[in-house]
Amino acid sequence: MPIVVRTVADMRAHVAKWHSEGLKVALVPTMGALHEGHLTLVREGFKCADKVIVTIFVNPKQFAAHEDLGKYPRTEEQDVELLAAEKADLVFAPDALEMYGSNFATQVHMEGPALAGLEDKFRPHFFDGVATVVSKLFIQSQTDFAMFGEKDYQQLMVVTHMARDLNIPIEVVPVATVRDDDGMAKSSRNRYLSKHERHQATSIIRALESAAKKIRSGGDAQ
Ligand code: PAF
Repeated sequence: MPIVVRTVADMRAHVAKWHSEGLKVALVPTMGALHEGHLTLVREGFKCADKVIVTIFVNPKQFAAHEDLGKYPRTEEQDVELLAAEKADLVFAPDALEMYGSNFATQVHMEGPALAGLEDKFRPHFFDGVATVVSKLFIQSQTDFAMFGEKDYQQLMVVTHMARDLNIPIEVVPVATVRDDDGMAKSSRNRYLSKHERHQATSIIRALESAAKKIRSGGDAQ
């Protein structure tokens, strides 16, 4: 079973010990409700590093008031079992007080890829919340690598840019999207979709694949 720790000090003590033994450490930041996509990040983490830490924290700063913070799935016991099967070494699952303290006053404000007009167009609060928590996780953990899925491509660009801008010595490693048989990218929020909505959603991937195929073959993509 992975060691489960809830404080920054405990996580840092483990990372310091591993580093003193000459071991490399990879971080997999998550909000829990783990699926095959997250487990792939863990497996890819082991290709880069000797030890893998998975963080589980549903970050209130990346949810707008009307979004699903309250109903976001919280399945820690099941998540830890899945991680045990992958031989993950440590789970960092802090509460909001450990993460932000009682008087938190700092926000990482991102421009550049955070203003590309994609997800930021619909969720203007989102990337500052992600950049704030991910910069904290990087500084808290002091790992060598951090694994991020290409599924959330704009997020991957944002955290890579943020680490570079803030001189955080951690290599952000992109990991290919894991999909279900019908083409849908694995996502914790897929469980919100009705059968009909899921069918509608798969038509988006079919349309994108068909357009990409036409573009690659030099044909008309319309
Ligand atoms: O992709 C996610 O699950 C979250 O945005 C992350 C990177 C764990 C930050 O809360």
